[in-house]
Amino acid sequence: MDFTVGSATAAVAGSFDATPDPRLREVMQMLTQHLHDFVREAAPTIGEWNTAIEFLTEVGRSCSDTRQEFILLSDVLGVSMLVETINGQEGGTESTVLGPFHMTESPRRELGDSVDLIGGTRVCVVSGTVRSTSGEPLAGASVDVWQCTEDGFYDVQQPERQPAGNGRGLFRTDPEGRFWFRTVVPSHYPIPTDGPVGRLLAATDRHPYRPAHVHFIASAQGHEEVTTHAFVAGSAYIDSDAVFAVKKNLMVEFVETTDPDIAAEYGVEAPFVHAEFDIVLQERS
Ligand code: BEZ
Ligand code: FE
Repeated sequence: MDFTVGSATAAVAGSFDATPDPRLREVMQMLTQHLHDFVREAAPTIGEWNTAIEFLTEVGRSCSDTRQEFILLSDVLGVSMLVETINGQEGGTESTVLGPFHMTESPRRELGDSVDLIGGTRVCVVSGTVRSTSGEPLAGASVDVWQCTEDGFYDVQQPERQPAGNGRGLFRTDPEGRFWFRTVVPSHYPIPTDGPVGRLLAATDRHPYRPAHVHFIASAQGHEEVTTHAFVAGSAYIDSDAVFAVKKNLMVEFVETTDPDIAAEYGVEAPFVHAEFDIVLQERS
């Protein structure tokens, strides 16, 4: 049969009929259907299609060991968050995007240590408890954190100014499932804009900013791992995150605390900023 606008989808979908892996067959046939429907609806000119191919080629060329432009494209199109949300933990802390800056291993640190190695202007303590969905505190849980500086840069973006590991720490919860560490209040910041994804944002009049946040990956034996953020409540761009990752339950008040007794508990001087972020992990079935 001739390849026509009407017959194209059946021809291509049928070409995958003999795929041995049933999931791969299902996904390729679904992809064919949706991609063809999109092309029929958008009806690109040959010039427009070439532009699209050139754009994707450039996205690929921009990727390296330290840069993943395809993930960034998935992020700004909301696909990363859609996949996270579809796979979210029932009853557990909601997940958000991993992002491109978890590219180095966080240094192991003791509870109470500071992840701020360059001396920020406002001391901040982040504390919380890791619990199971049953409510039981999880002792010995792993809490991996990474964040940018007060002026919005990760260590890997400023190797000349920040020592490796600045803003990063790998902690283990105490027997009550608690964790706490010293840091600075992170800033909002732009996602990388010097590549094709940045040009796409500019061409579509979208800003590149993410609201201020601290990244977390928490895990414990017998439980599902969660990748998430604590967002600074009231941060700039909290209602228009460039990668759509904000969830109401992940907004945390970073509160100025003047009580010297509470400060002493965390080994800091008042006034300091305190944020409490509890994490719930789903039991593995
Ligand atoms: C981040 O929060 O580190 C991030 C997430 C997605 C895209 C760019 C940056
Ligand atoms: Fe980030």
